Order: sequence, then C-alpha cells, then structure tokens
Amino acid sequence: MPTHPHAPRGVIAPGQLFVDDQGAVAQLHGVGIQRFGGRFYAWGEDKTSAGTFGGVACYSSPDLATWTAHGHALAVSPDVPDLAPGRVVERPKVLRNPDGKFVMFLHVDSADYAYARVGWAVAERPEGPYTYLRSERPLGNISRDIGVFVDHDGTDDDGTGYLLSEDREHGLHIYRLSADYLAVEEIVATTLTPPSDHPAGPHGYESPALVKVDGLYYLFGSELTGWSTNDNKVATASSPAGPWSDWADFAPSGSATYDSQTSTIVTVQGSQCTSHVYVGDRWDRDDLFHSAPVWLPVRIADGAARLEWRDAWTVDPVTGVIA
Ligand code: DGJ
Repeated sequence: MPTHPHAPRGVIAPGQLFVDDQGAVAQLHGVGIQRFGGRFYAWGEDKTSAGTFGGVACYSSPDLATWTAHGHALAVSPDVPDLAPGRVVERPKVLRNPDGKFVMFLHVDSADYAYARVGWAVAERPEGPYTYLRSERPLGNISRDIGVFVDHDGTDDDGTGYLLSEDREHGLHIYRLSADYLAVEEIVATTLTPPSDHPAGPHGYESPALVKVDGLYYLFGSELTGWSTNDNKVATASSPAGPWSDWADFAPSGSATYDSQTSTIVTVQGSQCTSHVYVGDRWDRDDLFHSAPVWLPVRIADGAARLEWRDAWTVDPVTGVIA
C-alpha cells in the first residue's frame, strides 16, 4: 500500500491519492474522463518518469472513486519521436467520434515546452491500445494545455466537437473540430485574461475545461503559473463562439482553488439530479508521481460556479446524488 495519504477505496478524499485495484497509486494526473456504457473511463499522465512521458494510463470506475487499472492506453515508443522517452505528453483527453472510434487528444511537447503541439491517437476501445496518428500546431498556432468538449444535441454519439487550446501568444482558443474529430477546422472564439494582468500582450488561461449546464456554456481555466496553483477562473457564454463574460473565481479567493489546478469537469447525469465534479491536480513538482487529486463537487447554475469543499465524499452514479 502507498505510504502517501490515500483515500479508502470507493471514496473521494481531496488531497489524498486514489489506490487502484492492484494496490498501486492511480496515475490520474492531468486526466480526461468520459462515461461510456455506464462506466467512467479516465486517461491520466503516468508520472513514473516525473515530468517526461511515462505513458498514458487508463482506468475505469463505476463511481469515480473505485478505480480499476487497464495499463497503458498509449505507451512510450522510442521509434515515434512525439512519444519517445524524454518528451513531454500531457493532458490526455478522449472523445468518442460519430463513427464510434475513440479519439485521444494530447499536449505533445519537447522537454523545454518549445514544440507546443496537439497530438491525436485513435482506438477501437476506450482503454486502447491507441494508435498514434500525428501532431500539429492547429491553424499554425502554438498549443499547450488542452481540453475537449462535445456539444450533444440529445443523442449519445453525435454532436459538434471542440478543442480548447492554450496559446499564450493569442489567448485561449476554442476550435471547432471536423465531423470525425480528427482535425481542427476553425477558431470559434479566443478568450483572454484581463489585459491589465498582462500589459505586455496576449495571454489567456490554461488547463481549460468546458461544460454546458441548462443551455449555458461554462469555460474553466487557470492562470499560467507552471506547477504552482492559482485562483482558477470561470467565464460563461450562451454559445461556444461567445461573447464570453468576464472571468470570476469559483473557489474562495486566495485559496488557489483549494491548492489545485483544473483538469476537467465531469457531468454525472443521474435519475434524481445532475451533479458536476471538479477534477483538479495538486501538483508536487518534486514528486509529480504522488501529486494528489483534488476532486470536489462544483455547483454550476445561473451563470456561476462554486466549488464545495468536502473532506471525503461520494457521488451516486445512478441517482447523481452527492453524499
Ligand atoms: C502548467 C500546465 O497546466 C501543466 O499541465 C504542466 O504543463 C505545467 N504547466 C508544466 O510546468
């Protein structure tokens, strides 16, 4: 059993590690999460090699708390330059495209973060194995932290796909994806941090996540402070194209988002209610492998979002109720 503080299986305890079915520390860092066929799948950065690529680890869970390991969905590959040892591959996010294929998006970079691209990989099953396709700078723009979003119109397997991408030279972009999600088609919006915060020029947030609640879009992100945490923000719009509102805190100001950085927001649609789960990382730059998850209920309604601290909690995947 891990020596670092860890949650009992079946419980979410912010600041404590998840232990998987093998008794190992779940590598749920920079994670993407989707629900397929009633089960939650998570793809995380395996930080075995600290800041450089150690593989994309896949886990599944019935309840966002009891994680089963499925090994590497995408492994280190010395023959593939983008996936070679010593490279940086972060924030794996997966969407199921209208053809039923699982499409993985990645922040693909060099160790000095100068390469700044988005990468694609595809698989027949959520847990992989994924076949790596390529990387690019979308429409010529640098791309570091990413998020993904599908605007569903009521059915499970269709909807317009979007890529969220941090480009500090221009701002945080929302790109519309092609119908199969394998290419970027156009920029629908570019959001910026308040220019007064960055008088030298554009900036914008990173660690982006987008959710739609009651017809309103909520865009989450963090300031660009490396592995250090900051007061993450949320903005709203009635369309992904905006116009986007001013940015607001969604955790107590000065708490640095309870000392965490946004990774994704999970919607748990239940029979009694729809709950939202903030999935964040509390990075430990000296021991990234043991960086703790900070996952909390986030109340999203009427144009505002609010993180609610809990020492330990669960969400019922059937009813949606948080306890
Ligand atoms: C902040 C990003 O959000 C993380 O994913 C990671 O790239 C760190 N920067 C590296 O400093």
